[in-house]
Amino acid sequence: MPCIRTISQAVLLLGGLSRTLAMPHYPRTDGVSWGACEIDLPSVQCANFTVPLDYTKPNSRATLDLQLLRVPAVKQPKKGTILFNFGGPGLEARLTLAGTAQTLLAITGGEYDLVANDPRGTANTLTASCFNTTAERATFVGEPSSVIPSRDDELALGRVWGQTQVVEDQCFNFPGFRQRGSLIGTAFAARDLLQIVDAIEDDGLLRYYGTSYGTVLGATFAAMFPDRVDRLILDGVLNPHEYFNGYDVEAWADSDRTFSGFVEECLKAPDLCALGSRRVYPEDLEKDVYNLLEDLREEPLSQGDLLIDSSLVQTFIRFSLYSPQFYPALATALEGLLSQDAAAFADVYDAFVESGLDLTQSPDESSFAILCGDKRVPEQSLEEMAPVFEALEDESRLLGSSGHIQAMICQHWRIEANARYEGNFTAATRHPLLVIGNTFDPATPLRSAQNISAGFEGSVVLEHGGFGHTTLSQGSSCTINAIRSYFQDGTLPEPDTVCEADYAPFEPKTLTDVLVDLGYIEAAPEE
Ligand SMILES: *[C@@H]1O[C@H](CO)[C@@H](O)[C@H](O)[C@H]1NC(C)=O
Ligand SMILES: *[C@@H]1O[C@H](CO)[C@@H](O)[C@H](O)[C@H]1NC(C)=O
Ligand SMILES: *[C@@H]1O[C@H](CO)[C@@H](O)[C@H](O)[C@H]1NC(C)=O
Ligand SMILES: *[C@@H]1O[C@H](CO)[C@@H](O)[C@H](O)[C@H]1NC(C)=O
Repeated sequence: MPCIRTISQAVLLLGGLSRTLAMPHYPRTDGVSWGACEIDLPSVQCANFTVPLDYTKPNSRATLDLQLLRVPAVKQPKKGTILFNFGGPGLEARLTLAGTAQTLLAITGGEYDLVANDPRGTANTLTASCFNTTAERATFVGEPSSVIPSRDDELALGRVWGQTQVVEDQCFNFPGFRQRGSLIGTAFAARDLLQIVDAIEDDGLLRYYGTSYGTVLGATFAAMFPDRVDRLILDGVLNPHEYFNGYDVEAWADSDRTFSGFVEECLKAPDLCALGSRRVYPEDLEKDVYNLLEDLREEPLSQGDLLIDSSLVQTFIRFSLYSPQFYPALATALEGLLSQDAAAFADVYDAFVESGLDLTQSPDESSFAILCGDKRVPEQSLEEMAPVFEALEDESRLLGSSGHIQAMICQHWRIEANARYEGNFTAATRHPLLVIGNTFDPATPLRSAQNISAGFEGSVVLEHGGFGHTTLSQGSSCTINAIRSYFQDGTLPEPDTVCEADYAPFEPKTLTDVLVDLGYIEAAPEE
């Protein structure tokens, strides 16, 4: 295992020298030739951009083509480029950027080009796939998507432990997977960002917006190349210490609080929430749902070909809590189950899956291939994993056990990234970071934002007083303006600033409405 810090220093030194001596004015877009995208989209451009395949082999000439997508700035003069990573790990960044282009242009001010590349392991870039076809994946015997074992259910724990080993074996033995698996991961992804910056920014500095796992990538870049940071926003922070060296227990720290908040907001808005008249006190309504999950554990329901067990409902709650836009539907689904109306639940569930918010199916195995290849955790038997399961369930009664499967896969995982970032997250960046955390985020708690900010000199935590995963889930003009100011002139909010959302979570409003109210985007014509 090469020491990544040594490599990072070597590259930094060389980069710095060539910049001052040879190429003080790197022409923008040099090295990237933009053309049409293979997906037919208006006003975006794509490019294939060549980078070294393996940064740990400086003498190798092997290369990799990264796929980039660009949304051009809408205001002149252009200030530069903002790079994005939307998380997962495993999300196809180009598709996400194309789908949210108007929103992101409005939030970042319109003076920057927006660029994203599909990270190694995802989409067509070193695809981390362990199956020949989607059908093969779907019918695979060990597909560990059905049962979430709880720590006291030995039978289920043992079964999933075995299933996750079967999955790991499948990946380990799939032709070409071991090599691909060694070439993906966050340290290489951070170096890819640096290559892109060197090719398209004449000052050689990174401007970046990362959400969810994208905060791990951003923090890793900031720790490896602090002198190259001009603007860096981490929104919805995943604790990077835990990401590399633990089981992401802290990720669930605010999950229960978020669900409690959901219930409270529901009772405040009985006209907009199907559960709103069921109980007077939030504690009682919450108890009803916990009892429901307990009952479903012992006696699942069925509706058509849908098996409604506690694992399915837990996963559904987990992803519905990601955005207040889903809260009314979540309430309708739970109200259905609480009134023994499985069909009502199934209707909402089917719509949810059809809308593309696929709960269990993914196009490849990149999410855990990236994550597990990055992680270094001590080897443990199933028995020795007990404290991990306990920690996860203690962190969140509602969702903590959702972390068990991932912990088990990573425990079995044998393929390590050729380079893992092994340093700390303590640095003085060229310009301070803006770190944002929601008050009610089911997947990335405010505590993790505070954790990362503690290590980066001058960085400020902005608390976004909203619900959902990352600030893009519930609009706040205060948060939006803070982000715009940061990109426009580098201004950071005062420490301890709390930006409230502009509307309550059950109100039928969206981030787009806030951007329209602010005059940052034009209202869509009435339908
Ligand atoms: C990038 O490469 C892919 C695969 O070779 C090709 O289909 C696509 O047209 C290229 N895109 C651009 C913008 O050159
Ligand atoms: C996938 O395809 C390869 C090459 O055709 C074949 O050798 C292998 O058996 C297939 N894998 C599975 C699991 O069917
Ligand atoms: C973090 O790592 C850097 C580089 O190795 C080192 O100089 C610094 O002392 C470390 N900081 C902490 C708080 O451990
Ligand atoms: C950040 O989180 C890590 C991992 O949980 C922990 O070891 C460290 O003490 C935390 N740092 C701060 C400043 O809270």
